[in-house]
Amino acid sequence: MKMVQSLFWLLPFLYMCPGHAWVASNFLMTGPKAYLTYARSVQVGTQSGIEECKQQFAWDRWNCPDSATQLKGLRRATRETSFVHAISAAGVMYTLTRNCSLGDLDNCGCDVSKNGKIGGRGWLWGGCSDNVDFGERISKQYVDAQETGQDSRAAVNLHNNEAGRLAVKATMKRICRCHGMSESCSVQTCWTQLSDFREIGSYLKIKHSQAQKLDTDKKRMRAGNSADNRGAIVDAFGSIAKTELIYLEDSPDYCRKNTSLGLYGTEGRECVQHGEGLTQWERRSCRRLCHECGLRVEERRTEVVSSCNCKFHWCCKVNCDDCSQVIVKHVCARRDGGDGHGIRRRHRGPK
Ligand SMILES: *[C@@H]1O[C@H](CO)[C@@H](O)[C@H](O)[C@H]1NC(C)=O
Ligand SMILES: *[C@@H]1O[C@H](CO)[C@@H](O)[C@H](O)[C@H]1NC(C)=O
Repeated sequence: MKMVQSLFWLLPFLYMCPGHAWVASNFLMTGPKAYLTYARSVQVGTQSGIEECKQQFAWDRWNCPDSATQLKGLRRATRETSFVHAISAAGVMYTLTRNCSLGDLDNCGCDVSKNGKIGGRGWLWGGCSDNVDFGERISKQYVDAQETGQDSRAAVNLHNNEAGRLAVKATMKRICRCHGMSESCSVQTCWTQLSDFREIGSYLKIKHSQAQKLDTDKKRMRAGNSADNRGAIVDAFGSIAKTELIYLEDSPDYCRKNTSLGLYGTEGRECVQHGEGLTQWERRSCRRLCHECGLRVEERRTEVVSSCNCKFHWCCKVNCDDCSQVIVKHVCARRDGGDGHGIRRRHRGPK
């Protein structure tokens, strides 16, 4: 399995390195065994969050590059980093909750607190409800602990972590099983269960498109001491629901390569035009990634040889032919002459 190259919460794990007194106290607080047990799940959860980010943004100009999930990339507070925070916090909560239901961890299990109680008309609580409270608590403890700053960016990141965890709860489903004479369903028992992580990713992608820019009182924040600063932050947050993603800075131009921001631009990116079962968003990917970024679409053909027409001969031989197949790909390429930018630009922004 590919390891996470860029764990921004590796910081508390540094207790292995000497000279970090604060980490040592953190270590003692939770105990070595519990700490290491969760650390592994936290790492797996982060990675699944980042993989989901790459899936969700596969056909967007910004495609969740590794640079965006590293400490440097996360220092900004754009619409896109808000998604990275939310999906990572959600991934950690999700993995720990699953671990809990599967009996991977000694000190937690299914949430059976409501079992036997009436849930609604014709159904009782029963079975194994996913213990999201446990996952939520550990996610807070490990992920939120990384935001040590007192500035508005730290406050925004914490808000987005929370929005990610609320997405896990908001997408939970009630599952029921019938009981009664020959499954007559006169009585049902029900429990709540996590959705597929894909569904949480899609839910947060919509939140990304609706993300709100935080209107902070810049003068007050720049001039003020940290108490004043906090006051300004609290005021700014007042009107925004906890479920919504927020950001502070406008997104840079994702069409263009910008090494200082760790952005590759869309030149060389693949896009899709034709094919069965494509969504409208996918079918427009060449326009979005190439044309609207001042690039052209180049068709690239590659020949792939594989085995085909295999025949089985008794006994025991298989004869195959070599068949070659041409695979057509569409890739954004620079126009002839010029740097390929600034022409036919209709839209700017983080599409
Ligand atoms: C928790 O679940 C993840 C993913 O399913 C798995 O890789 C990890 O080992 C589990 N943790 C424990 C402590 O079993
Ligand atoms: C890279 O981004 C920074 C910050 O937005 C900007 O100031 C700079 O001009 C950009 N560089 C290029 C080459 O676009």
